[in-house]
Amino acid sequence: PRVYVLNGPNLGRLGTRQVDVYGVTSYAGLVALCVATGRELGLDVTVRQTDAEHELIGWLHEAADEGAAVVLNPAAWSHYSIAVRDACALLRGPLVEVHISNIHAREEFRHHSVVSAVATGVICGLGVDGYRLALRHLATRSG
Ligand code: DQA
Repeated sequence: PRVYVLNGPNLGRLGTRQVDVYGVTSYAGLVALCVATGRELGLDVTVRQTDAEHELIGWLHEAADEGAAVVLNPAAWSHYSIAVRDACALLRGPLVEVHISNIHAREEFRHHSVVSAVATGVICGLGVDGYRLALRHLATRSG
């Protein structure tokens, strides 16, 4: 089964960006972790990152057309993008929303995600391990 791991703005800077909040794993390290986890679980994992909202929406449409499962870290868009939420609502497969940090323990404006209500489930605060757990869940679900 196909799984898209999609990442929103600034996540390409992982490893150098606020390491106290997001940890030391680089974006390349995150990609490697997701691909290796997918291989272990027998999932065909495609990992992408963009700073352009329209690009993420296009990828979500693609996943919707394929009926594929999605692991999504919408990053800052989580907190205000109705367009990203509406694209998520088109998905036919499961959607796991992942946040590396615990958004509830941070600034007030990060406490709410407009995406969560249309997600199958949400993982936050477990660092990049959240991606591994999300993939594990999807493998169990489809297997
Ligand atoms: C994030 C949390 C968001 O509030 C923030 O804008 C991000 C990353 C996380 O993974 O913890 O860019 O989604």
